[in-house]
Amino acid sequence: MWDELWTDIRVATLAPGGDPYGLVEGAALAVADGRIAWIGPAGTLPGAPETLARRVIGGGGRLATPGLVDCHTHLVFGGNRALDFDLRAQGATYAAIAQAGGGIRSTVGHTRDLSAAELAAAALPRARRLLADGVTTVEIKSGYGLDVAGELKLLEAARRLGTELDVEVVPTLLALHALPAEFAHDRAGYVDLVTRELIPAAAKAKLAVAVDVFCETIAFTREECAQALRAALDHGLAVKVHADQLSDGGGAALAAEFGALSADHVEYTGEAGVAALAARGTVAVLLPGAFLMLAEKQRPPVALLRAHGVPMAVATDLNPGTSPCTSLTTALALARAQFGLTAAEGLAAVTREAARALGLLASRGTLEPGKRADFCLWDFEHPRELGYWLGPGACHAVVRGGVRRDH
Ligand code: NIG
Ligand code: FE
Repeated sequence: MWDELWTDIRVATLAPGGDPYGLVEGAALAVADGRIAWIGPAGTLPGAPETLARRVIGGGGRLATPGLVDCHTHLVFGGNRALDFDLRAQGATYAAIAQAGGGIRSTVGHTRDLSAAELAAAALPRARRLLADGVTTVEIKSGYGLDVAGELKLLEAARRLGTELDVEVVPTLLALHALPAEFAHDRAGYVDLVTRELIPAAAKAKLAVAVDVFCETIAFTREECAQALRAALDHGLAVKVHADQLSDGGGAALAAEFGALSADHVEYTGEAGVAALAARGTVAVLLPGAFLMLAEKQRPPVALLRAHGVPMAVATDLNPGTSPCTSLTTALALARAQFGLTAAEGLAAVTREAARALGLLASRGTLEPGKRADFCLWDFEHPRELGYWLGPGACHAVVRGGVRRDH
């Protein structure tokens, strides 16, 4: 006997094969032990609903999609950067603000002052907004501690947040995010600290499942990033790269070279980089919130990514400096409007491809038997409405691990 049977729903399964949404009209979805036990047209159920499940729930004809996966966030931080944003409105650039000691380093100052519990508490309302908008799995990066204790503290805060909200948090160590002030004259010293102490410590404590690096002229060189990525692989961690956001620094090629799960941003990635991603099956994660808020002009090479068959995901990049965005559906609308993703590409980008970008496609990202029962019900006529309405609010219900959640 199943635990629950949802009936009177229309489902975009995102399962491969068939139409791009995997649309099933007049569908039913059964949950057992937090997983999808059965999904298909209600007319083909193996019996009368009441005989099959302990509880039968009517979905009111709503559209169900896989729970959304936000595969790139910097959700845990102290303070905010509203002042940076105002300075940018007056003509200052992201790079100039960073070089003048603002930017990421100013968030580091506010973050170092707080305990893991305080950081988790500060992040809680932001996380709740994400979840209310349909997110059922969220990646969270460190990167505002920039020393061993500070980075581990951020990862600890991310873990607490996941426990508090009973949501899957995928923790990523992003120690090569900015050079901390105390290493201003010793770049190699910081990279050594990260590779020799921090990565092993995070892996040993199981506080991170992946290592990310910011490969950029204002951050770290390819060689510095490669050193950290090598250490990550040596310690059994997955890798990913903030690649080619502000210039073509070969970040995508670096990501591919290390078999990264994803290369993120990729605005300046050229055809060679795109081909390298395709060859390794690395996902390109598009981050339209940062593109918008930084008033960038260079769009990611979506036509090339499409032509080479590189999977595309979209994420909020929720962070205080460049993308204070707590709605993945809004990020999706921005990606569709600014980067020209089709509706079908867009829905896949925040579900199936985002799960792929986290290495979690076996358990999430599509609605198929055996996967986690993570799904959302939307007040939509058609899946193309996801990422059409600009702003959150259309998510009627979120089911995580088979349990309906309130936020
Ligand atoms: O993804 N690019 C680097 N990291 C963030 C920005 C973080 C910040 O400015 O605080 C990003 O856009
Ligand atoms: Fe980022």
